[in-house]
Amino acid sequence: MSARGNRAAAEAVSPLPSCIHGDAAFARENKLIHGDNLPVMRALTHTHAGAFRAIYMDPPFNSGRSFKEYRDVWQRADWRSMMRDRMRVMHTLLADDGALFAEIDDTELGTMLELCDTIFGPENRVSIITVVRSAATGHKTINRGPVNVTDFLVLVAKNRSKWKPNAIVRTREGRDPAYSLYLENPTEAPHAWRFSPLAQFVAQGLGKGSAKTAAKDLGRTRFEREMTRFSLDRAAHVARFAQPRFEAVSLEARALIEESRAHPNRTFVLERKGRKPFILRGGNRVLSLADKVRVVNGKKEIVEPVTNVWDDIKFQGIANEGGVTFSRNKKPERLVERVLEMTTSAGDLVLDPFLGSGTTAAVAQKMGRRYLGIESGEAFDSMCVPRMKRVVDGRDFTGISRSRSWQGGGGFAVEKA
Ligand SMILES: C[S@@+](CC[C@H](N)C(=O)[O-])C[C@H]1O[C@@H](n2cnc3c(N)ncnc32)[C@H](O)[C@@H]1O
Repeated sequence: MSARGNRAAAEAVSPLPSCIHGDAAFARENKLIHGDNLPVMRALTHTHAGAFRAIYMDPPFNSGRSFKEYRDVWQRADWRSMMRDRMRVMHTLLADDGALFAEIDDTELGTMLELCDTIFGPENRVSIITVVRSAATGHKTINRGPVNVTDFLVLVAKNRSKWKPNAIVRTREGRDPAYSLYLENPTEAPHAWRFSPLAQFVAQGLGKGSAKTAAKDLGRTRFEREMTRFSLDRAAHVARFAQPRFEAVSLEARALIEESRAHPNRTFVLERKGRKPFILRGGNRVLSLADKVRVVNGKKEIVEPVTNVWDDIKFQGIANEGGVTFSRNKKPERLVERVLEMTTSAGDLVLDPFLGSGTTAAVAQKMGRRYLGIESGEAFDSMCVPRMKRVVDGRDFTGISRSRSWQGGGGFAVEKA
C-alpha cells in the first residue's frame, strides 16, 4: 500500500481526537486508548508495524468467573479465536528484536502455547516463566489435590536470533546458606589457605563456643541475622565449594582439577586472561560471595541471575497500588518492571492491549519507556486515566515509585476508539 493509502486506512479507523495530560511533548507518543483492542491494533498496523519493543499482555484467563470489572466466561474455541486474531496483529506490531510476554494461568496455558507456536513459530518460544503469586495458606491448605499458586508468563520473541535481552538480577532476602565457608587467612599464599565453617567463625566472634550454642543463646533469628551481616561485610572471604563442569573447561583447567583432587588440602589458582582466576580445592571450584554482592538502593544485597521461576514478587499487599481497586486481577508493578527491565531500554515503545487498571502504563512511565495501552472496560475511565494522572503529577507513591525515585513528569494522550 502507498504511504497515502496507509494514512487513509489508518485515519478510517483511528481513534477520536485526544485529550492530553501532562507534558504534550510526551503525549505525542504515550497513549491510553479506550476501545476493543482488535480494531485499535489493526489500525495501528498502518502506523506502528514493527514499532513495539515489548508487548506485555494480561488477557482474560477464561477463569469461568464474572468479575466486577469484566466477564471472563468463554467457550474454549471462542477464547482461542479471540486470542488468535489479536496475537496475529501483535506479531505485526512487534519489532524484529522485540518480545511478547503473555500472562496466563493453567486454564488456557496449553491454548496459549499452541497459539504462540503457530503464530510466532516454535523456534521463537523463549521460556515459560512460572510466577508464584500466593502460598498454600488459609482455606487453600484444606483443598484436595495440588493447590494452585502460580501464573505463567509465556515469553516469545518475534525473531529469537535478533532478540537481545538485558542481563537482569534479583536480590535475595538474607544470606545464601550455600556460602558456608570462611577463608581465615586470605593474605597468605593460596596453597596455605584455611577454610573453616562460617557459622562456627561467626559464633566465636560473638563469644560463643559453637554455632549450636550461639543459636540456642541468641535465638535462631538473631544468629541468622548476625551471619547475614557478617557475610555481606566480609563477602570477599566467604566462599562455597562447587563441582566444576569438567566438559566445559579448558584442558589446562581439567589438568588442574585432577591435581587438586590428588592434593585435597591445597588451594590451586589458574590465572586466566580477562577472566576471574579459576580457584580449586579438593577438585571443587572455590566461589566467592563477593561476586554476588551489589549495592542496591544504598544497601549491600546478594543478587542472583533471574531464572524461569519468579517467586520473589509479592502479589499480597498490592490492593492499593496505583490507588485503584481492581478485584484480584491487578498485577504488581514490580512484575511488569521486571518484564520491561529484561526486554526494553529507555525510550522503547511498549504495548499493553489488555490494560486493566493501567499497571503497564504506570510502570513504563516511571521507567522512561514510551507506552500505548488499550482497555475496553469501564476501568479505563475509573482507573487507568486517574491512575496515570497521579503518576504524571507525581502524586503516586505506590508500586515502584520509591525504588525508581519517581517524582512525576511525562504525559499522555487519552483517545476513544
Ligand atoms: C486481567 S485484566 C488486566 C489487568 C492488568 N494487567 C492490571 O494490572 O490491571 C484484563 C483486562 O482486559 C480487558 N479486556 C478484555 N477484552 C478486551 C478487549 N477486547 N479489548 C481491550 N481490553 C479488553 C478487560 O476489561 C480487563 O480489564
